[in-house]
Amino acid sequence: MLLVTGGAGFIGSNFVLERLRTTRGPVVNLDKLTYAGNLQNLASVAGDPAHVFVKGDIADVDLVTRLLKAHAPRAVVNFAAESHVDRSILDADEFIQTNVVGTLRLLNAVTAYWRALPSEQQRDFRFLHVSTDEVYGSLSVDDPPFRETTPYAPNSPYAASKAASDHLVRSFHRTHGLPVLTTNCSNNYGPYQFPEKLIPLVIHHALSGRAIPVYGSGANIRDWLHVSDHCDAINVVLESGRPGETYNIGGESEMRNIDLVKTICAILDEKRPRAGGGSYAEQITFVTDRPGHDQRYAIEAEKIRDELNWRPKKSLEAGLRETAAWYLDNSQWIDSVVSGAYRDWVALQYGDRLASA
Ligand code: NAD
Ligand code: TYD
Repeated sequence: MLLVTGGAGFIGSNFVLERLRTTRGPVVNLDKLTYAGNLQNLASVAGDPAHVFVKGDIADVDLVTRLLKAHAPRAVVNFAAESHVDRSILDADEFIQTNVVGTLRLLNAVTAYWRALPSEQQRDFRFLHVSTDEVYGSLSVDDPPFRETTPYAPNSPYAASKAASDHLVRSFHRTHGLPVLTTNCSNNYGPYQFPEKLIPLVIHHALSGRAIPVYGSGANIRDWLHVSDHCDAINVVLESGRPGETYNIGGESEMRNIDLVKTICAILDEKRPRAGGGSYAEQITFVTDRPGHDQRYAIEAEKIRDELNWRPKKSLEAGLRETAAWYLDNSQWIDSVVSGAYRDWVALQYGDRLASA
């Protein structure tokens, strides 16, 4: 049994679906269902007794304490967060509330639960905190990639809030002995990603005939990892990672934003030729840059490769083709997200069936 937080979001829902598909064991899924939480992502497991969905906040110590007592998980995997840099620039309050205060409250509840476990279960228990490479700040084109030992230098309020949460997690290991693991991962893409993030936004804007906004000159570089590879890495760290350690997870796939956007346009040109001819690339529009826009992220993932024998399996080219195909095949998913109809799904599908503990 795992307690997963934020399991109705992009990465969390992919993680939960994969665990249930491969019968790795039951999951209690605690999610506040913010704008980014979408129960439609979990529709295929709605009737699965191995999946207990609970709508609630990681900052609700009473609720988390009840869940821990009732389900006795052997690990907690913390995905719950506010995750979009641009939103954190407009207003950072929720980022501090969930990513910092929420993580602290979750750590408090989990530590109390862990302390009361019999010694063998206490030894085997894990708290895995899912974090980002953005805590390390920005690289120039020639800099060596981020390592686990790179000093933290967050530049956006989002990155700062994740950095703070990483420090809290670390401190609960050093101070209280909680067996924690932290993963710092590069940019993810794949099914069920909210279309505020670059890749699904480009696909959605291209297909709906809108301008495709590229910030600044498009020369910023990101390292891209398919979400299935990220979930695989999290499972590997959960099973074999050393408590107290952090592991960088990377895709070995750095690309300039403009090249990525053009690649996606070319894939769409092939899979769904533009009505009226021409390329989707004609819709690319350069817009004012993001304030404090990090130039480059890159990961040195030697530690997880050497210690835990993990490497990404999917190439960026194959992953992008698959992802484009998924969004083309699931246009109603993106339509309901964009129209906001996904929020009605909760009432329709679950009514008062949402477990409360
Ligand atoms: P997301 O925004 O798609 O999903 C976040 C989920 O957390 C949503 O379902 C939301 O409802 C839930 N949530 C928010 N506040 C909550 C709270 N207070 N209590 C309970 N649930 C709450 O995010 P994502 O892209 O799936 O990212 C998941 C995690 O992975 C985050 O911690 C993020 O920082 C980290 N991460 C993301 C990426 C990426 O590229 N998306 C890369 C590296 C790390
Ligand atoms: P994003 O998906 O928001 O992830 P992050 O900021 O966490 O890396 O953005 C990825 C890159 O794409 C980033 O350099 C900003 C850029 N970007 C655009 O150029 N246009 C857009 O509309 C968005 C959302 C992002």
